[in-house]
Amino acid sequence: MVDTFITFEGPDGAGKTSVLTALIPQLAAHLTRPVHLTREPGGAQISEKIRELILDPENTAMDARTEALLYAASRRQHLREVIVPALDAGEVVVCDRFVDSSVAYQGAGRQIGEQAVLEMNQFATDGIQPGLTLYLDVPSEIGLARIAAHRTSRQFDRLDQESLAFHQRVRAAYLRLAQQEPERIHTIDATQPMAQVVADCLATLQHFLTDSWQSR
Ligand SMILES: Nc1ncnc2c1ncn2[C@@H]1O[C@H](COP(=O)(O)OP(=O)(O)O)[C@@H](O)[C@H]1O
Ligand SMILES: [Mg+2]
Repeated sequence: MVDTFITFEGPDGAGKTSVLTALIPQLAAHLTRPVHLTREPGGAQISEKIRELILDPENTAMDARTEALLYAASRRQHLREVIVPALDAGEVVVCDRFVDSSVAYQGAGRQIGEQAVLEMNQFATDGIQPGLTLYLDVPSEIGLARIAAHRTSRQFDRLDQESLAFHQRVRAAYLRLAQQEPERIHTIDATQPMAQVVADCLATLQHFLTDSWQSR
């Protein structure tokens, strides 16, 4: 567990990316050390190439375990090239999605087994875990409706073409993880207005990062 490594998790449409965009400047203003926001594949070139393989709509033949292995491979490269160096440099690293996403999406969504996906990811990450995970929780219908409402083009990637049942399995897995690891995973009610979600996240981060926090 690394105290300055923080992840954001939740189903599609929970608001992770929007919340982080608003939150990071506020967080940076309070912290005595730099904040590094990243998301997989995080600009690591090898990770980007792996990601292209996963998302290519033409790869309809991709096996679920192949997909899980590719995510783990991409994650490892991002971890080695981006996350670990930033942590070593004393930065607070905030990552939009990490291992919990694979457990929820591949393990439960694609039904290849949450424990198997977790163990494979422990190999991929050398067991490096975030000290804190903020889980943005929304019912699947709300998350899917938000995505549909804000989609501007008819372009769907392969992972969008999933059923409501898939998204419900993903959410159920996140809720199980949050119940199993209450010290690490803090659940935020992401059905609230965005400003309140941001405020809740900031309050949780202040509590967790108390040694690096300056009041202003
Ligand atoms: N709390 C909220 N209330 C209403 N709409 C929201 C909220 N948070 C995010 N959204 C909207 O939902 C959509 C998906 O948000 P996004 O940040 O991309 O989610 P994620 O990164 O978790 O998939 C965006 O159009 C965003 O404006
Ligand atoms: Mg996002």
